[in-house]
Amino acid sequence: MNVELKNAIIAAGQGELLKFWDDLTEAEKSAFAGELAAVDWAQIPRLAAEYVLKRPEMAIPDDLTPAEFFPLAPATEAQAELYRRAEAKGIELLKNGKVCCLTVAGGQGTRLGFDGPKGTYPIGPVSGRTLFSYFAGAVARASEKYGKPVNWYIMTSPINREATESYFKEQNYFGLSRENVFFFTQGTMPAFGLDGKLLLSSKSSLALSPDGHGGTLLALRKSGALDKMISDGNEYISYFQVDNPLVPVVDPRFIGLHALENSEMSAIMLSKTNSREKLGNFCVSQGRTMIIEYSDLPDELAEKRNPDGSLSFIAGSPAIHVLSRSFVEKLTSGGTLQLPWHRADKKITCLDADGKLFTPAEPNGVKLESFIFDALPLAAKVMILEGDRAEVFAPTKNATGVDSAESCREMLTARNARRLELAGVEIPRKIDGSVDAVIEISPRLVLDDADAAGLVNAVGLKKILPGEKVAL
Ligand code: UTP
Repeated sequence: MNVELKNAIIAAGQGELLKFWDDLTEAEKSAFAGELAAVDWAQIPRLAAEYVLKRPEMAIPDDLTPAEFFPLAPATEAQAELYRRAEAKGIELLKNGKVCCLTVAGGQGTRLGFDGPKGTYPIGPVSGRTLFSYFAGAVARASEKYGKPVNWYIMTSPINREATESYFKEQNYFGLSRENVFFFTQGTMPAFGLDGKLLLSSKSSLALSPDGHGGTLLALRKSGALDKMISDGNEYISYFQVDNPLVPVVDPRFIGLHALENSEMSAIMLSKTNSREKLGNFCVSQGRTMIIEYSDLPDELAEKRNPDGSLSFIAGSPAIHVLSRSFVEKLTSGGTLQLPWHRADKKITCLDADGKLFTPAEPNGVKLESFIFDALPLAAKVMILEGDRAEVFAPTKNATGVDSAESCREMLTARNARRLELAGVEIPRKIDGSVDAVIEISPRLVLDDADAAGLVNAVGLKKILPGEKVAL
């Protein structure tokens, strides 16, 4: 290892990381030195002091107000006209190949407890098709519908890159053209012990974890994804998370409104179901839009109500965005971007003082992540549009219960039932109104209500029987 690197590590107070150096083979030394060279050592003491040794307190601005948004149903005739123009604009942008999709899939999916990249989780309620297969089908259908291939960018982490790519190869890219699917890898952050010392995962490697979905922005630049977008003429990025198969991969109204409003970064908002729902809150301070996490919003603001009894801070974030490519270019122009870090206390498997690997029963360390929504205050213009929860948001965070694979499958069935009903199909329902069947519709065939009507016509479907399992 070169002396400069060694000195930087020691100056950062992390010399103990080299404790086992003399036990390593030449190959291990070289790999470890490469990993250590990628760490910004000058930053480490500050991160340890600010985020690990003390709990960072989220300073809530005094002037915090709820962010404004475009409502789901237009409030005036002028707004209805704007929505019509937005939809037309979105369709025009899609037809001209100006829009690409971006799925963030670099997370570790610990809550789901699934072995493998989360995108390979079988979510289809009848077929068991995977999350990636859902998005691939929708991307293919959007490409067909708008007559231009929609490029699909998939962010992985160094941990799941290989498994993700192999999966796509095995599936023959779900019939998409290879040149329209672009994988890129996010950065990592070393994990800290609670004493501020970095943790080792072996004698020759740091305990590293993905740097959060905020890492997307810089990774787009470093991976060459931005260059590809430029050369392909993609100007708008439709951003969504890998665990939400309900999301419209491209939403013409949302994209069109983003463009017409000259927004740099836009967001879908959902009306929160209760004051403590676990969604980030869209707020404004000093004219800047920001998200305050549900755990950071003080009770008096979370509970604050409008004269009509509705929540003042009603707007929750399902992490669905449109970003202008030019905004990402601007933010990352110097090859760096420093978004704030967020602390998460985790159980981190690491080496103990004697060099033995151990898995703790309680959180023993801190992972730092940056979040994409921290780019909102950096945007000159933000546009927020209300979404219909039942149409756009079914996160698969846990195996059962709230926000689970189970609830996601129910929501997929419910949306499919609504679409079929709209197209004239008789749907069996239980007394409580829920669907008494399991219904899956291939995203390759149906992107929206109009597609569903076309499919119903084509197959001549009239009714679904109680308890039936249907895959269209
Ligand atoms: P979550 O915050 O739900 O994290 O990520 P997760 O890692 O998937 O799941 P848990 O918390 O360990 O159970 C939201 C979205 O952001 C992506 C995830 O893949 C998911 O699509 N993400 C998260 C990244 O791409 N990189 C990250 O470093 C973190």
